Amino acid sequence: MCRLICLCKGVREDAISEVIDSAAHPNLQVVQEKTGAATNCGRCINAIESLIEKSRSESIIEDHK
Ligand code: FES
Repeated sequence: MCRLICLCKGVREDAISEVIDSAAHPNLQVVQEKTGAATNCGRCINAIESLIEKSRSESIIEDHK
């Protein structure tokens, strides 16, 4: 089962990961624009930023393979 990240907008982790994976330079603003997440109370911003951070560090690892 997929984690619900943004309770206000009902946005799940897989939807956010998809945006992060398809964006050339993923950041909070891109996720907000594409999914609507983090556009209300902002409680989910930390969770979204850690997903972005995670994908960045994974791509750095990929680059060094
Ligand atoms: S939980 Fe995402 S904006 Fe409120």
